[in-house]
Amino acid sequence: MAGRFVVELRNVSKVYTPGKVEVVALRNVSLVIERGEFTAIVGPSGSGKTTLLNLMGCLDVPTSGDVLLEGIPLRNRSRGELADLRRDYIGFVFQTFNLIPVLTAFENVEFSLSIKESELDRREKRVRVLKILERVGLKGLENRKPGEMSGGQQQRVAIARALVKEPALVLADEPTANLDSKTGRSIMELMRDLNEKNGVTFVFSTHDEMVMDFARRIVKLHDGEIVEDISKVK
Ligand SMILES: Nc1ncnc2c1ncn2[C@@H]1O[C@H](COP(=O)(O)OP(=O)(O)O)[C@@H](O)[C@H]1O
Ligand SMILES: [Mg+2]
Repeated sequence: MAGRFVVELRNVSKVYTPGKVEVVALRNVSLVIERGEFTAIVGPSGSGKTTLLNLMGCLDVPTSGDVLLEGIPLRNRSRGELADLRRDYIGFVFQTFNLIPVLTAFENVEFSLSIKESELDRREKRVRVLKILERVGLKGLENRKPGEMSGGQQQRVAIARALVKEPALVLADEPTANLDSKTGRSIMELMRDLNEKNGVTFVFSTHDEMVMDFARRIVKLHDGEIVEDISKVK
């Protein structure tokens, strides 16, 4: 695997032009995420958090500036190349869980693995999926469909789905926004545990103080600009 920078943004701006008026969602953002970070992107609604995560995760491309993923510059890549990079390096967790409703917990996680690791045989895949579901606390619930699970359990499936590919970076966009505070806390505890014990690099967005308190580094956005970048000493 490449150097210690998982993702690097150099002077990145993102301008949306939904109609006649331009919306500057990010303005000259430079940011480096190193391996092993547990970092919160914070800021009010509309400050650019989702846009920033989407650029880090190759879901979108900047209007200007450069994004490097594992040292690989993303400039001038085709949609297909970006999709390949996303599949190989990134796990996503969303505020609305985004599981496939007709698939069980097991199948939702297996599906993500199938896309990346087509060379693994069925048995190896099965073992890996069961192991990760157990790791996120869902042993015994493998055959439940999303509609048969609580919000917190669904988010655990989503975390397992992101992790099973062993991505370099997990991006979580307001992962606790649709959970009550106790469940949200347990999801943050799980993510922190995966960071500390398994070395998974996490970048998550939030505007919730409780969630922010878990972060070791807080990057604050305001109107598309980084206005604060604080690393806590452990
Ligand atoms: N697809 C889009 N088209 C037009 N404007 C957008 C789009 N996505 C986001 N924006 C605008 O960009 C700004 C930043 O949005 P976003 O990144 O979603 O912020 P946050 O996640 O912090 O709420 C907002 O002004 C928002 O309205
Ligand atoms: Mg958002």
